[in-house]
Amino acid sequence: MSKYLKYGMLAISLLIGFSNNAMADDEGKALFGQCRGCHAVGADAKHQFGPVLNGVMDQAFMIAGDYDYSAAFNKAGESGLSWTDETMSDFLAAPMSYIPGTKMAFPGVQNEEDRNKIIAYLRLFDTDGKRQDTASDETAALTPVVTEERKLASDFAVPEHGVFKLGRVALTEEINAWDIDVRPDGTGLPPGSGDAITGGELYDAQCASCHGDFGEGTGRWPILAGGHDTLTDDRPEKTIGSYWPYLSTVYDYVRRAMPFGNARSLSDDDVYAITAYLLYLNDEVDEDFELSSENFSDIVLPNEANFIADNRNNEGFRSISIDELCMTNCADDAAVVTQRANVLDVTPDE
Ligand code: HEC
Ligand code: HEC
Repeated sequence: MSKYLKYGMLAISLLIGFSNNAMADDEGKALFGQCRGCHAVGADAKHQFGPVLNGVMDQAFMIAGDYDYSAAFNKAGESGLSWTDETMSDFLAAPMSYIPGTKMAFPGVQNEEDRNKIIAYLRLFDTDGKRQDTASDETAALTPVVTEERKLASDFAVPEHGVFKLGRVALTEEINAWDIDVRPDGTGLPPGSGDAITGGELYDAQCASCHGDFGEGTGRWPILAGGHDTLTDDRPEKTIGSYWPYLSTVYDYVRRAMPFGNARSLSDDDVYAITAYLLYLNDEVDEDFELSSENFSDIVLPNEANFIADNRNNEGFRSISIDELCMTNCADDAAVVTQRANVLDVTPDE
């Protein structure tokens, strides 16, 4: 075999090794999104509600000496348990039954393959949070680069702009990144699309652990589907299908705030796909439905009509001039008392 062929094969096997790692990285990283609300990994990781998970695999329980573990975890640690593939998988499947009394209030990851991918991702980080694969250090981008000595406000000239002469004018990019609200008529939607099937896959990996496979909610996490015709019950189930007036709120909320702990990690198309899937879970569309910025405003949620505009500013208890409340000299169509508290029986007898 020629020398060059050998090097070539070595390069190919290195490439294969690398792409395997990169795959574990992509999928494991996405799945780790469910954990990120409470846990960090990487060089700059700090304890959050849960401990830093750098180098946790193949270690005894409670790797973070300066983290305040629960009594239940301390007990498990004393019994000499350690984190193997097996114990970690069992723990992640149902943390609260694996270690009763743990403060990791997380329902668990049902799918075994998903658990394995998360474990593979955890294995990428050594105890210092340095990554073992060749991919770039993901926390590097977050580390501020200090290039000059810190200056005081008095070192700077007073800006010319604005009313208060403070700071600098925001860049268009900064305003755009912040200005992401979507209104009921679709104003503010980014271009894009996504179908319910893709949305289902994203949902299973990143949402189902809290919101349930069918949006029914795991434990006490919020319910996202069902509850039709329950609004007049003593305990109404307020879901997207039963209660929410506008689909724009679903898109806006998911894009802004979910998955819990890893907000703004979804692409615009991901959010279209997940929104389409949430419509499907609520029986509003078929499985093969594709939602896009084009057909978005065609969707009307069932409860929209029960939301009415707040018109109190135009009511007659205000004086002729609309800005003032009145006791005398009120507008002509002054408020009419239709019932009294004691008739309604809300006044106590004594
Ligand atoms: C709601 C917050 C929360 C979420 C979500 C969460 N954890 Fe935890 N986790 C904790 C807390 C708190 C502890 C400490 C447990 C204790 O002291 O009882 C913990 C402990 C752990 C430990 C033990 C670490 C050690 O030092 O021995 C591991 C491993 C772990 N979590 C992995 C995960 C993974 C993986 C996920 C995502 C699939 C996850 N956790 C999701 C809060 C959370
Ligand atoms: C770690 C648990 C967790 C994960 C994972 C998660 N969520 Fe949530 N979700 C929450 C919590 C907690 C709330 C309530 C937040 C609040 O009320 O402040 C919530 C609220 C919501 C709501 C609003 C529900 C309502 O009726 O008010 C929607 C919609 C939603 N999540 C969608 C998603 C989607 C889509 C994903 C996946 C991309 C996701 N969530 C992943 C915990 C989670």
